[in-house]
Amino acid sequence: MSEKKILITGGAGFIGSHVVRRFVTQYPGYRIFNLDALTYAGNLANLHDIEHLPNYQFIKGDITDAEFINNLFNEYGFDAVIHLAAESHVDRSITNPLEFIMTNIVGTVTLLNAAKKLWTEKSGKRFYHISTDEVYGSLGNTGFFTETTPYDPRSPYSASKASSDHLVMAYFHTYHLPVVLSNCSNNYGSHHFPEKLIPLAINNIKNNKPVPVYGKGENVRDWLYVEDHARAIDLIFHKGKDGEKYNVGGNNEWKNIDLIHLLCKIMDKKLNRPDGTSAKLITFVTDRPGHDMRYAIDSSKLQRELGWKPSLQFEEGLEKTVDWYLANEEWLTQVTSGAYKNYYRQQYETR
Ligand code: NAD
Ligand code: TYD
Repeated sequence: MSEKKILITGGAGFIGSHVVRRFVTQYPGYRIFNLDALTYAGNLANLHDIEHLPNYQFIKGDITDAEFINNLFNEYGFDAVIHLAAESHVDRSITNPLEFIMTNIVGTVTLLNAAKKLWTEKSGKRFYHISTDEVYGSLGNTGFFTETTPYDPRSPYSASKASSDHLVMAYFHTYHLPVVLSNCSNNYGSHHFPEKLIPLAINNIKNNKPVPVYGKGENVRDWLYVEDHARAIDLIFHKGKDGEKYNVGGNNEWKNIDLIHLLCKIMDKKLNRPDGTSAKLITFVTDRPGHDMRYAIDSSKLQRELGWKPSLQFEEGLEKTVDWYLANEEWLTQVTSGAYKNYYRQQYETR
């Protein structure tokens, strides 16, 4: 699979930037095109360290713009697509569902159509759709999501991702488009926009601001270090079977409140504050409407068939994450101020 031209969408976002970095550095024979609209969540600062490499190219653009996308596929003749671009935050989907329908559903179909048109010869082609475990709905105290768990999305975000997953599989069955799909649990790590629980809590604790915990903090998430997800994506891209889905998860369930207490302990240590200082910032706030109680992934198919497993213990990953945020204060200020994004927007006007 050398000399491939791979389009990665959403590469300026959290997970996308880790995937772009991995592919650009591990596969110098591939040409990696990062297509991103640079929304509030996309930051080219995430890719400073690799943007000079000869096999990397950034393209600013919107995946819902069919004419632009079709022209792009014709111009570059991509061999593969790794599709991560999305609106990704549940709370924002509750306030503005339509944006999620547009990017996550219409955007995905726009890419599928462009690939279908371009790939008259399907051999060696691959459309890899990255999705979430949230499509499966909410678990009680027991059980795990497997690849055959029926979809039961509850939020506008998860409903839009579920819809895009179904469309990806529909293009496999109807048009024989060579697709592969994975559904992953909650990621954490560096370059995560500080609206999601872990980076938001780190940023607030650092600035002595309240740490909002929804409801009683009893909800459970299964956390995976983002580089372990990027490694899974690499494996599935290269070794996954067409038309198959793979669950990716950390086997690492935490109640939100327990996670926040662990994070507070780490922050006290890193900031040389007396034990218990950060925990005083914990503030219970009104619950998220329709808040899914528990997510837990069974990733045994990926482990058995492709030999993947998570590499980091949670405490270790969380410490690494805290260290990164404390060492990258400028990044935090830039992504929260908007000034930096505006600078890059001007540099990369849509063609
Ligand atoms: P993110 O919000 O950090 O990044 C999304 C990226 O997509 C941004 O760079 C943004 O600019 C870009 N984008 C948004 N709309 C676009 C459009 N219309 N055209 C082009 N680019 C656009 O998201 P993330 O957390 O990195 O998630 C990436 C993917 O992984 C998403 O598909 C998400 O559903 C999925 N996922 C995320 C998690 C998680 O824990 N974050 C877990 C499982 C799956
Ligand atoms: P989040 O990081 O938004 O991911 P998701 O909703 O996709 O799982 O939230 C993780 C969990 O933390 C979820 O149960 C909601 C909760 N949460 C809070 O308690 N406070 C917050 O400020 C945020 C953003 C999330």
